[in-house]
Amino acid sequence: MEVNQSKFVISNSKVEECPQSNLPEYAFIGRSNVGKSSLINMLTGRKSLAKVSGKPGKTRLINHFLINDNWHLVDLPGYGYAKVSKKEKKVFQKFITDYFKKRKQLVNAFVLVDSRHEPQKIDLEFMIWLGENGIPFSLIFTKTDKLKPAALEKNLTHYKSVLMEYWEELMPLFISSSLDKTGKDDILAYIGNINQSLI
Ligand code: GTP
Ligand code: MG
Repeated sequence: MEVNQSKFVISNSKVEECPQSNLPEYAFIGRSNVGKSSLINMLTGRKSLAKVSGKPGKTRLINHFLINDNWHLVDLPGYGYAKVSKKEKKVFQKFITDYFKKRKQLVNAFVLVDSRHEPQKIDLEFMIWLGENGIPFSLIFTKTDKLKPAALEKNLTHYKSVLMEYWEELMPLFISSSLDKTGKDDILAYIGNINQSLI
């Protein structure tokens, strides 16, 4: 699938105020700074459709982007950002969990993890939570440009072995680099196939 058109629709902190249309929707979630917003820009071929920052905690709201006039991409705040206050963390968590529980249009969540790191408890817990709530998800290993191929392979093998301790079958897995556009075709083809299956 090609992205021919992408535009920002709305930002908000209430799932009830998200776009009312029935278009299929794909959300990007993961720890702060993992590269969610950068990936959205890479997939849409836009430099700064979604706001990116070197400092974690940049994305603070639920952001809807309309793609090709027929589906939505959603950029979400990261979880596990240590520097927000406890109160703020609770508010964040509430609207993120609310979004996942209530948003009927959501057809797939992409959970992003940094390809350089060991499996993190917070990510595994979040994936388990998605599973418990019946939300289909796939995994994207980000920032692969920062690793040599052999190191990437080693990390992926290790990550998969940890996943297999929790799941009998692996979810779809992708690798990405927003820098060199790795993963763009695969991720868009995956979304395109799901969209086709919904028609
Ligand atoms: P929050 O909105 O704070 O939760 O972060 P985010 O997950 O949206 O991350 P964002 O896209 O803002 O990127 C965080 C930092 O990582 C920025 O400095 C990006 O330039 C950098 N970054 C993101 N993706 C990649 C990548 O694929 N390769 C490299 N080398 N850097 C990346
Ligand atoms: Mg962001």
